[in-house]
Amino acid sequence: MPMPTIIPVASGKGGVGKSFLAANIAIALSEAGHRVVAVDLDLGAPNLHTFLGIRNRHAGIGDFLKARSAELTDLIVPTGIEGLGFISGDAKTPFMADITYQQKRRLISRLNHLPADYLVLDLSTGTAFHTLDFFRLSPFGLLVTAPDDPSIMNLINFLKLVLVRSVEKAFSGRPAIRKLLANEYIRPHHQQCSTISDLKTKISSLDPAAGEKTATLLAQIRPRVVFNRCRTPEEFTFSQKLDDTIAEKLSIAVDYFGFVFEDPNVNRSINARQAFLSAAQKSEAAESVRRIARRIEASWEIPVPDSAQQIRQDLAENSATGR
Ligand SMILES: Nc1ncnc2c1ncn2[C@@H]1O[C@H](COP(=O)(O)OP(=O)(O)O)[C@@H](O)[C@H]1O
Ligand SMILES: [Mg+2]
Repeated sequence: MPMPTIIPVASGKGGVGKSFLAANIAIALSEAGHRVVAVDLDLGAPNLHTFLGIRNRHAGIGDFLKARSAELTDLIVPTGIEGLGFISGDAKTPFMADITYQQKRRLISRLNHLPADYLVLDLSTGTAFHTLDFFRLSPFGLLVTAPDDPSIMNLINFLKLVLVRSVEKAFSGRPAIRKLLANEYIRPHHQQCSTISDLKTKISSLDPAAGEKTATLLAQIRPRVVFNRCRTPEEFTFSQKLDDTIAEKLSIAVDYFGFVFEDPNVNRSINARQAFLSAAQKSEAAESVRRIARRIEASWEIPVPDSAQQIRQDLAENSATGR
């Protein structure tokens, strides 16, 4: 059986809409005919079920981690939406936000064998190691941000730690390199953050071959950014700022997969225990979510060099059709 395509959904800041997007992208992919499982990996504050319009009465990841004999496949519950299953983060097992290395390894290996075309992973806010590692399950993970400076700066910090973690894992048997990287996790916020290019230079000066390996590794990482909770089309100018900062500090490229407006129907549908995509099918935000799903189907594993231009085109089409 082929392994599922994994779509981790992360952000730097909380409240930007990870859970909203994870749920609704999962629904859009299942509506397009795929077998999808939405997994709540926000172990500290699981709430993905509310965005799917279902109650959380089910055993979930917490039970799987506690019971060595439990199988992840058995935890998939139906959502009432054809083709879409759900794995709960677990309301019954508090304090599961801290998981051990072995627990994480076991969970990751089972995720890779779930019977699905797509796995959509809703992650916690923050830069805990397990969040970074869940995001690293795909080199193309989705990064959600609101169009404002704090969300963007937190996104840059999150992405930087993802890159540092990726390099650290590639050199697990090299104490000198690991020591260099370990400093990055504990750097105080007020200190000027070193750039990924500085780190590459430092690694190269320790060992030129390791420097090359680092460059190859980082070149493969290409996250996909979604702007959410937007109020005006002009807010897409934040993409330029993001591109410039990422190029300067992180030396990688990102693609843009979506631009979703703030829509009062999102919270209305939650209060009515309905999934947004089913409750507000014709809204502009729902159409934007479906566009993200179509981009995932068409180009999840390939770079999209003109992605910003495509979003501008979407926005121009919306205003032409009076949406
Ligand atoms: N596009 C949107 N329009 C309106 N409200 C939204 C939108 N996206 C998210 N929200 C609301 O914002 C809040 C935070 O969203 P959530 O998905 O829980 O964020 P996160 O998972 O990143 O912390 C929720 O109340 C959610 O319903
Ligand atoms: Mg959330």
